[in-house]
Amino acid sequence: MSAQNTKTTVREKYGEAARRAAKGQKSSCCGTTACGGDGGHESGCGCDPITSNLYPESATSTLPEQAVLASLGCGNPTALAELHEGEVVLDLGSGGGIDVLLSAKRVGPAGKAYGLDMTDEMLALARENQHKAGAENVEFLKGEIEAIPLPDNSVDVVISNCVINLSTDKRQALAEAFRVLKPGGRFAVSDVVIRGELPPDVRSSMELWVGCVAGALTEGEYEDRLREAGFLEIGIEPTRIYELADAAAFLDGTGLDTESIASEVAGRVMGAFVRARKPLNQE
Ligand SMILES: C[S@@+](CC[C@H](N)C(=O)[O-])C[C@H]1O[C@@H](n2cnc3c(N)ncnc32)[C@H](O)[C@@H]1O
Repeated sequence: MSAQNTKTTVREKYGEAARRAAKGQKSSCCGTTACGGDGGHESGCGCDPITSNLYPESATSTLPEQAVLASLGCGNPTALAELHEGEVVLDLGSGGGIDVLLSAKRVGPAGKAYGLDMTDEMLALARENQHKAGAENVEFLKGEIEAIPLPDNSVDVVISNCVINLSTDKRQALAEAFRVLKPGGRFAVSDVVIRGELPPDVRSSMELWVGCVAGALTEGEYEDRLREAGFLEIGIEPTRIYELADAAAFLDGTGLDTESIASEVAGRVMGAFVRARKPLNQE
C-alpha cells in the first residue's frame, strides 16, 4: 500500500474511533481488538492490551469523560515527561486531547499546550473536551506530524502517545519535532517499540499498522533516527511488554494465524517511553 493510502486508512480508522468516543463508546484502535458488542461504556476496555489502564484514576477523574474514552495511547507521557510552569508543550497526534489537557494543567496559565492531529473528527472531539474542561491555555491545530504548523525553536517539550509508529515517514516526523523544539528542548514520547524481529506477515498487515504494531520501529532504529535528526541524550525505557496473551489479543481478528504467530510476537512488542534532547547550541 502506498504511503498516501496508509495515511488515508489511518485517518479513516481514527475518525471512526473519535465518532465512537463522542457517542460515549470506548474504542480500541491502537491495538486492534474490538471491545465487545458496540464497544460498551467501559472506562478501561480491559480487552485491549495496548490502550487499557494507562492513567491512574487520580489523573483522569478531573477530565471530561469523552477525553478519557478517546484515549488510544500506549503510555502516559505526561507522567514521565519533565514539565514546568510556563512551558510550551506540543502533543503530536493528540487524538481526543487527553495528554494535552493533562499537560496544560502542568504548565499552568503562563504556559501553553498545543495538540496537533490530522483527523477532523479527533480535532472536533478534542476541542469539545477543551471547552468542557475550561482549559484556556490549550490550542488544537490541524496538520500532519511530518509538517508541523509551528515555527522553528518554539516549543519546550514535544510529547506524543502512540502516534510516531503510525507515520509513513518517521525520519521527517522526527526532523520536524527537532525543528520546532527550542535549543535544549525535550522529546518525551510514549510509543510502541519492537525488540527483535517481527514476522513478515505482521509487518505487512494494514490492520496491525493501524493498530500501532506493524509500523513500529525497533529500539535500534528509533535511536538511529533520533540521532540522525540531531537529538542527544537518547533513552528508550520499556513501560509495558506485551506477552503471549496480549499478542494473541492484538492478532485476533487480523486474519493472521494467531496460534502460530503469537509466540513469535510475544515479548517483542512493547510500550516504551522514548526521551531525547535537542542540543543547547542548536538553532
Ligand atoms: C493511536 S491514536 C493516539 C491519540 C492520542 N495520542 C492518545 O493517546 O489518545 C493516533 C492519533 O494520531 C493521529 N495521527 C496519526 N498519524 C498522524 C499524522 N501523520 N499526523 C497527524 N496526526 C496523526 C490520528 O488521527 C489519531 O488521532
